[in-house]
Amino acid sequence: MRERLEELRRHGLAAVEGASDEDALRAQEIQLLGRNGALTVLLRELGSVPAEQRPQLGAAANQIKDALAAAIGARREALRQASLQRELSGAGFDASLPGPPLPSGGLHPLTRVSRELEDLFTSMGYRVLDGPEVETEEHNFDALNIPQDHPARDAFDTIWVTPPGSGAARGGAVCLRTHTSPVQVRALRRFGAPLRAIAPGRVFRQETQDASHDHTFHQMEGLVVDRGVGVAHMLHAMHALLEGLFGRQLETRLRPGYFPFVEPGFELDARCPFCSGGCRVCKQSTWVELMPGGLVHPNVLRACNVDPEVYSGFAFGLGLSRIAMLRYGIDDIRWMLSGDLRFLSQFPA
Ligand code: PHE
Repeated sequence: MRERLEELRRHGLAAVEGASDEDALRAQEIQLLGRNGALTVLLRELGSVPAEQRPQLGAAANQIKDALAAAIGARREALRQASLQRELSGAGFDASLPGPPLPSGGLHPLTRVSRELEDLFTSMGYRVLDGPEVETEEHNFDALNIPQDHPARDAFDTIWVTPPGSGAARGGAVCLRTHTSPVQVRALRRFGAPLRAIAPGRVFRQETQDASHDHTFHQMEGLVVDRGVGVAHMLHAMHALLEGLFGRQLETRLRPGYFPFVEPGFELDARCPFCSGGCRVCKQSTWVELMPGGLVHPNVLRACNVDPEVYSGFAFGLGLSRIAMLRYGIDDIRWMLSGDLRFLSQFPA
């Protein structure tokens, strides 16, 4: 018995030393110390040796077990170090393997809605236009048939700007644009008729902030001018827009609406996309206000050197912020430009 134990120690230690990788080592460990391993088998025979020899042999067996376990631990550590050294040395390093993924952000809900609509309207032959956010009074108001003392100016809580060095006071010539409609004027003057364009962008108003008002928000202007353009064309564009936004056609209704730069002017409502019998979004009415629009006022065409006897057009003003809020169920407009990561991270890529 003693010899066999001694033999097991010698043979075991040599095998552990000879294990060339962690898998081989693990196999040796099971063979030597496992539940059916060599040592266990020997210990089972301990019952059949004379009682007075048992304590000694038992102690020797335990010693061997500890020695083997220690050798296995040391060998395992040595193998790990060696493989770490190999990695560090660059051998076997494959630069073509993909690295760990970098955390990536997502697109802001406004960007998503805006890009979707840009794609949709581009596919229908519209240009996507941009305009300055600091705008002249002439573009923002006068050319849009809103002269100086027109009461409609009060509806726009305008933020007036004093250009550096000009000394101009309130009522001066420059403001933060209160809507995207001045892009109508710039586009018509630049490109003339016929014209199809949309213009998404930021607009500004002197608003007291609450859940549905912010001093900065987003709109998307639409403008089509050509021969013989009428309300039916406008409705078609609005319905295409609706379908693009909600993926299906919604029942709509037109109400009269007043804007000095359109005549006639309308408000388009759609059946609430979120309920059939009234909900929080439609305030129990089953209708949601979608966008105002109308036929471009002849005075606007004239101000842009387009002959209203030859051309007519329609324009609409979509509240992008509102639409993005509807689409994603955002209940407070102030989240939109908050830059708050708790909000933004809800829109992963
Ligand atoms: N510019 C208007 C607003 O911001 C909306 C509008 C645009 C209405 C185009 C009619 C036509 O309130």
